[in-house]
Amino acid sequence: MKKIISVCKGDGIGPEVVDEGLKILNIINNYTEFEFEFRGAPAGGAVWKEHGESLPKKSFETIKNSDALLFGAIGIPGLPQGVAEIAILKIRQDLDLYVNLRPIKLYDALRDRCPLKEEYIGDGIDIYFVRENTEGLYKNIGYLKDDEAENIMRYTRKGCERIIKYAFEFAKRKKHTKITSVDKANILKPSQLWRNIFHEIRSEYSDIQAEDIYVDAFCQWLIRTPYAYQTVVTGNMFGDIISDEGAFLIGSLGMASSGNIHPGKVSMYEPIHGSAPDIAGKGIANPIGTILSVKLMMQESFNNQELGNEIEYAIEEALKEGRTEDIKHPNLKTLSTKEMGDQISENLKIRLKK
Ligand code: NAI
Ligand code: MG
Repeated sequence: MKKIISVCKGDGIGPEVVDEGLKILNIINNYTEFEFEFRGAPAGGAVWKEHGESLPKKSFETIKNSDALLFGAIGIPGLPQGVAEIAILKIRQDLDLYVNLRPIKLYDALRDRCPLKEEYIGDGIDIYFVRENTEGLYKNIGYLKDDEAENIMRYTRKGCERIIKYAFEFAKRKKHTKITSVDKANILKPSQLWRNIFHEIRSEYSDIQAEDIYVDAFCQWLIRTPYAYQTVVTGNMFGDIISDEGAFLIGSLGMASSGNIHPGKVSMYEPIHGSAPDIAGKGIANPIGTILSVKLMMQESFNNQELGNEIEYAIEEALKEGRTEDIKHPNLKTLSTKEMGDQISENLKIRLKK
């Protein structure tokens, strides 16, 4: 099965973590029916300095003509504001990647790294945030003029319907029993439209318990009863904020993965962290967020749940043997980025050879 994967390594630790993601893809290439072709699509701060744009046309064309994009992180210190973001927003908008899928899972081996007390972790944290990725405040409709500034939070029926339907279908596929919709319908008109549509669609999924919750209350419940959530669907800005709050619960920002998805079309997979200039070049970045993004790519773009699960097992096994600096454990070896990636690919190779 041939697939073209475009690769944007980006800045800072981007290239370091993406190289470990590529290691995993190469193992899959060697031991399964997949045949990957990799095509570089440079973008980011360093590219901007050289070419005056952070996402050159040629890179965007490469991405557009691939089956999926593996993306590191972009941004270097001293760039004008927005230069890095514009590349990501352009990819999301122009490819209409309306789903931002962000899994938040606390692996057993990392329970000691969770900032919550045991009683709040309960039987574990395993949440999928489904964030609307193309509408609302981040659509960039607005202005900044002298002493006044404005952004418009515009939502459409089409925009709400497709993301809420996606979330229900996703919950069904994952055999989730509950879906939570997060909004601010007591104040915001777009949230009222959102909530109406959520209620229309929930009636088609009688097997899944559906609940609404205001975003301010949700921020609090997420740290008091994180075990209570399964699929959580929300708008663009709320999703940005609450999924970062969630990422804080799983031990390290370096563990969190994401997919920017348009089902059936080219989609983008990236760790949620940035380019981390403070640790770039030291070889200590955690590559697991990127490797989990490869897992998402297998499951969401290439329709292979089992392979995704194998990658996850390989990670869980590796976490018992050694860990990078950000999640280090006194009784385990502290590993470099490369060693962490080697350990996971070795485990995966053994599993796939069986
Ligand atoms: P950041 O996520 O790069 O770093 C925050 C903190 O987490 C730092 O202390 C960093 O060392 C640590 N960290 C991040 N990833 C890690 C990993 N894999 N392993 C171990 N530790 C890790 O966020 P920050 O510092 O706010 O932004 C740095 C640059 O990244 C900025 O230029 C920003 O614009 C850009 N950025 C890019 C993103 C993207 O490309 N999607 C997302 C977020 C920020
Ligand atoms: Mg964010």
